Amino acid sequence: MTILSHIEKGSILRRVGESDSTLDVKALVAQIKQDLHPGQLAFVEDENTEILGLSAGYGAGKTRALAAKSCLLAIANQGFLGCVMEPTGPLVRDIWMNDFESFLESYEIPYTFRASPLPDYTLHLPGGDTKILCRSFESWSRIIGLNLAWVLADEIDTVTPSIAQKAFPKILGRLRAGNVRQFAAASTPEGFRWMWNTFGTEEAQQRPDRKLIRMRSADNPHLPPDFIERLEANYDPSLLKAYLEGQFCNLTTGQVYDRFDRAKHVSVLPEKEYENEPLRVGIDFNIGNMSAVIGVRLNNSLYLIDEIKSAHDTDAMAQEIQRRADGRQVYVYPDASGGNRSTNASRTDIQILESYGFSNQSPRANPPVRDRVASVQALLENGKAEVRLQVAPWCKRTIECLELQSYTEAGDPDKDAGYDHMNDALGYLVYRDFSMIHARAGRGTGIRLY
Ligand SMILES: Nc1ncnc2c1ncn2[C@@H]1O[C@H](COP(=O)(O)OP(=O)(O)OP(=O)(O)O)[C@@H](O)[C@H]1O
Ligand SMILES: [Mg+2]
Repeated sequence: MTILSHIEKGSILRRVGESDSTLDVKALVAQIKQDLHPGQLAFVEDENTEILGLSAGYGAGKTRALAAKSCLLAIANQGFLGCVMEPTGPLVRDIWMNDFESFLESYEIPYTFRASPLPDYTLHLPGGDTKILCRSFESWSRIIGLNLAWVLADEIDTVTPSIAQKAFPKILGRLRAGNVRQFAAASTPEGFRWMWNTFGTEEAQQRPDRKLIRMRSADNPHLPPDFIERLEANYDPSLLKAYLEGQFCNLTTGQVYDRFDRAKHVSVLPEKEYENEPLRVGIDFNIGNMSAVIGVRLNNSLYLIDEIKSAHDTDAMAQEIQRRADGRQVYVYPDASGGNRSTNASRTDIQILESYGFSNQSPRANPPVRDRVASVQALLENGKAEVRLQVAPWCKRTIECLELQSYTEAGDPDKDAGYDHMNDALGYLVYRDFSMIHARAGRGTGIRLY
């Protein structure tokens, strides 16, 4: 083997960085631009603003706009280094590399990909090979020390704000090479985070070095026809302002269970850890739409293993619980007002449940709603950062309700949108079994904690 065997065929007499590419760059740029929708075009055409933002709804075409922009910036800075960042390593692989490769291929842009030590693409352009690094925000410190012409960031508002704030000035400090130096970030805004701090505040709006472009999901003609309808069906209006229009709006104060976070609370426990535990079933009565959450208590925590939605009446609910209990002991925690009234003519709802052999745990009267909410919030995460509620991923309705129930203007948990029932059912159970007052009942310490 000679040293020449390492050199690409046909490139032996080429100097490093030089290219034999015959790509018609002008035609390529024109074609790329022609295929963009107006918001994307405004974003890729602005090569003068130092710090450029693209705030846009889900599916509005952000990642696609970044793919186009990275090619155009590479063309404007041939022979110089650029970098594209995603929030995490897996997103670099699953989102960016996937979309970027199909973009390069659809425009027949010649490139070489190298996976290790970290992924990068080399575009073979007439003015020389031009490298595009692909990095995660998690490991942003690894680009420090490089001289870059441009950096693009995708979904920057999902990066932990402290990391984004720390990384941003350091990244700007690396833009030291090339002809067009630019930092551009695209994201669906997540409340008031990096995008807001950088482009939205009054102070940011005064600064001449930055500019924000907005796109709505509806601006992208390439989305499936029911995409927007589905989002509208699943999110409340304040979230839709962010998720469809890319507006800054408060995503959290409206949410009743704002301590709920899929990453922390949705998990699968091996069945053998709870197979002998009695079932604890929180129940909300609504004629024609009975809801129940089924959980097991493990030490100080609650694990929700099942849910029942839309049972027709109390008997149907009880039969369904019995079927799922499969012989196990069942404690029920129904809405206490089910002791006074009935969805059946002759017996109260609680009497019906008892007739199936379930042990009723509900107090004589319901606690105030805010105490019930507070006890669920505390189980989700308390002041000591203890997380004591886990939900199995197949309890889909419960997860949705925890995520989406919001406060009304009057400050009460909303009961119109239909996200209340599972949460109420869960609240009866949690208040009774996990709130401080009841947890201590019967111990006779004489100490009452409120
Ligand atoms: N100009 C375009 N030409 C052709 N297809 C496009 C264009 N812009 C977007 N698309 C397609 O529309 C879909 C959504 O675009 P993209 O993934 O860029 O949106 P996004 O805003 O990044 O979405 P998300 O919010 O999911 O990250 C993709 O399938 C993409 O290929
Ligand atoms: Mg995207």
